[in-house]
Amino acid sequence: METHVASNPEENLFETRIRNLWNGFVNRFGKLNGKIDLYLPSEIADIQIGGLEKAQKEVESFSHVIRNPEIAKRWGTEPSKGLLLYGPVGTGKTLLAKLLASKALVPLFHLNIPNLILLALGMQQRWVEFLQRFYELIGECQRAVVFFDEIDLLGSEMSEFFQLAPGFRSQALFLVVQMVDQLAQYPGVIVVGATDRPEVIGPQLIKRGRFQRLIEVPLPNDQQRKEIMELHIKRAEQIAGRQLFDKLDYDRILPRLASFSGANIADLIQRVLGEKVRQEGNGEAVGLVTTEDILEEVSNYEHIKQYMERIFAKPSEGAYL
Ligand SMILES: Nc1ncnc2c1ncn2[C@@H]1O[C@H](COP(=O)(O)OP(=O)(O)OP(=O)(O)O)[C@@H](O)[C@H]1O
Ligand SMILES: [Mg+2]
Repeated sequence: METHVASNPEENLFETRIRNLWNGFVNRFGKLNGKIDLYLPSEIADIQIGGLEKAQKEVESFSHVIRNPEIAKRWGTEPSKGLLLYGPVGTGKTLLAKLLASKALVPLFHLNIPNLILLALGMQQRWVEFLQRFYELIGECQRAVVFFDEIDLLGSEMSEFFQLAPGFRSQALFLVVQMVDQLAQYPGVIVVGATDRPEVIGPQLIKRGRFQRLIEVPLPNDQQRKEIMELHIKRAEQIAGRQLFDKLDYDRILPRLASFSGANIADLIQRVLGEKVRQEGNGEAVGLVTTEDILEEVSNYEHIKQYMERIFAKPSEGAYL
């Protein structure tokens, strides 16, 4: 994703300071990519989400809670410090967490819970120091979003993850609950959880003071699918700096995307464009992407999509980038 330089010099200074502190943290504890990742506001300033109007509004409201807590007070509210984004795979939960941080102009710490738990196990004694330094970093930020991704892992005793080590689930749950409770102490921090299986998450996590406010992130409808497709087309054309798509006949395309998530649509567009790259690479004459090109790729993709849903209950996010 394109990186913008923060326009305000004060924000620039803040971001540089936090990035330096983060680098110190990473140097101390080794490679953390995919376990905890830091996104600064200028790096996620151009997040664009199609559909999800309700969820986007709720997220916007919480961005004000972080940014201007006095507004919440003026309306006599006691806003939750914890949100839970729930909905099918690839519908935009991670995007919404980024949108929240971006609107609130605060750093986003993206914690991948399965990977973080493995990290904690590997660290043993150093985990306490790790947490302490992490909280120090949060304290330096003052305001931040801490995103607990894939927390459903904690909800299922049966998950493969825990079959190897019975009793480990309660340890992992304890670890996460402890972090959520600690982070709730910081007035400017909001914790956000994400899951595609809310039904397996236990009452220890969905409760007052923890992930209290539930926000649904559903699959898009036809109109929203069109919007998402247009966003991804626009982005590709921006990167290319030219028109890539012919005028599309959405009346023919949309009925074929009936169960597609936002991630599926992003994937589809990448595949259609990938085919153009192949053709041009082979010296073939290539025109703009047409409705026919898209419909053809939908046929290929439908098989892959079904396969992914069956085999990988949860395809990795990287697959959609
Ligand atoms: N509503 C949407 N609008 C625009 N793009 C979307 C939308 N939903 C998903 N995408 C595309 O799919 C990619 C993956 O989405 P995201 O990671 O936010 O989904 P998720 O709900 O977190 O999925 P998972 O359950 O796999 O974690 C995004 O980077 C984006 O390219
Ligand atoms: Mg996600």
